[in-house]
Amino acid sequence: MEFLKILEYPDPKLRIKATPLKMEEIADNIGLIKNLAYTMYKADGIGLAAAQTGINKRIIVLDVSRKSNKDKLFSLNESDILTANKDLIIAVNPEIIFKEGKTSYEEGCLSIPEFNAEIERFWEIKVKALDILGNEFIVEAKDLLSVAFQHEIDHLDGILFIDKVSQLKRSLYNASLKKKKSASREKEKSYTS
Ligand code: NI
Repeated sequence: MEFLKILEYPDPKLRIKATPLKMEEIADNIGLIKNLAYTMYKADGIGLAAAQTGINKRIIVLDVSRKSNKDKLFSLNESDILTANKDLIIAVNPEIIFKEGKTSYEEGCLSIPEFNAEIERFWEIKVKALDILGNEFIVEAKDLLSVAFQHEIDHLDGILFIDKVSQLKRSLYNASLKKKKSASREKEKSYTS
């Protein structure tokens, strides 16, 4: 398995709308799905979308269980990473078919380092998706799981949670990125001189 490089905002590749998989294509993507799960666990995330790694396929992985159990250990073995982690959800072509209520969480994103913001989302959703065998399933997700699903499905549509914050908050973050970038450019210069 491989730790996939996670694209970071404002990489334009994060804005590409991902393409659905045909049922018969899923089997050929098991390696990718393992890499996504591996990368999510290694990076300490509760969700990851293929789109965040520059792969424009509608695949997401989620596991929100560590949020309530900080010491929880996960299997990172290639042979059972997809089966031994009981709270791991793999959703191919996920689609929200029901939404209700409101909730908000302080969200973060592996693609937007050092940025958090409270985002309003639906409290309860139902998601229709395909599993790794190509079977359709429906998940009822509430609260944190619902929020995580909405965040990851947004990634597949090129939407980032920073799009949903106030313009002021976004400009401040953009300014801090620019500063960081020019600081690292200065550093590069000093190495070559
Ligand atoms: Ni994210």
